[in-house]
Amino acid sequence: MVKEERYRQLYAQIKSVAEGESDSIAVMANMAAMIHDAFHFWWTGFYRVVERELVLGPFQGPLACMHIGYGRGVCGTAWKERRTVVVPDVEQFPGHIACSSESRSEIVVPVVQKGAVVAVLDIDSRELDTFDDTDAEWLEKIVALLPPLGGEQEIYLAAGCFWGAEKYLKLIEGVTFTEVGFANGNAENPTYKEVYTDNTGYAETVHLRYNPNVVSLRFLLEMYFKAIDPTSLNKQGEDEGTRYRTGIYYCNQSDRAIIDDVTAKEAKKYGLPLQVEVEPLRNFYRAEEYHQDYLDKNPSGYCHLPVALFELAKKAKDIVRQ
Ligand code: SME
Repeated sequence: MVKEERYRQLYAQIKSVAEGESDSIAVMANMAAMIHDAFHFWWTGFYRVVERELVLGPFQGPLACMHIGYGRGVCGTAWKERRTVVVPDVEQFPGHIACSSESRSEIVVPVVQKGAVVAVLDIDSRELDTFDDTDAEWLEKIVALLPPLGGEQEIYLAAGCFWGAEKYLKLIEGVTFTEVGFANGNAENPTYKEVYTDNTGYAETVHLRYNPNVVSLRFLLEMYFKAIDPTSLNKQGEDEGTRYRTGIYYCNQSDRAIIDDVTAKEAKKYGLPLQVEVEPLRNFYRAEEYHQDYLDKNPSGYCHLPVALFELAKKAKDIVRQ
């Protein structure tokens, strides 16, 4: 059977398997198995974009390397250049990562969702020059059948007065939702007035939701550090008190390693101990409505952040997610 006809059948089969399934890893697993079976390739599988690298996903074939950097190897190149890369002879591809010495030619197809590369499909062959435009065209169609990868994530950031912090953080591409409130304090349902007494232990905090396919946690944290003086205890701009302390409050334990890494790098820049509190989120209460999007409602209202920062946030793009 000619390749074109085999792909036509395979596409129809994969389509019927993928239909109605919302779990992308499950579909990736069957997709890899079906492509692998149809052509008896040497290695067929996925790498997913996780923070700033590719991490091994479902595959068929011999064991493979688990992490690939942005722009590294054929996979990292397809991610960076956002295009299908066909390699007729892996030995001629500078920087090719040889997971197996048997592999002779390769194709890597980026999986693009909502304009961002979220994964790559990588196929290796034991023959030279296995892949051409027909493979590229059909494999691009096939990966378009994957359900959306990775749901929204959230993080809570205390950066001094929450009016300016919310305005700044919500400008960053990939941030899908913000609200201001009070985090990691002591009494239930605090009001702004109560928090203002500085006796409640609450920090003025911005709750963020973001699309991890567009912006990484690492990038968000790097942007956060641009808007605070992390060496200042309980004081940002003219605002003083424990309610204006800086803090990173996470819901997901797996965020901790990234937070610690970014924080350690910032500490090195300053050469001083940082005063940013890093804790799991214990509680959060949404502030009164008039505090939400306060600076949109009151454009000339008080703000401790310079206008230049808002310009920076508007232009900021997480380069590895573009
Ligand atoms: N050869 C790939 C690495 C992955 S393995 O082929 C499974 C590359 O250069 O990116």
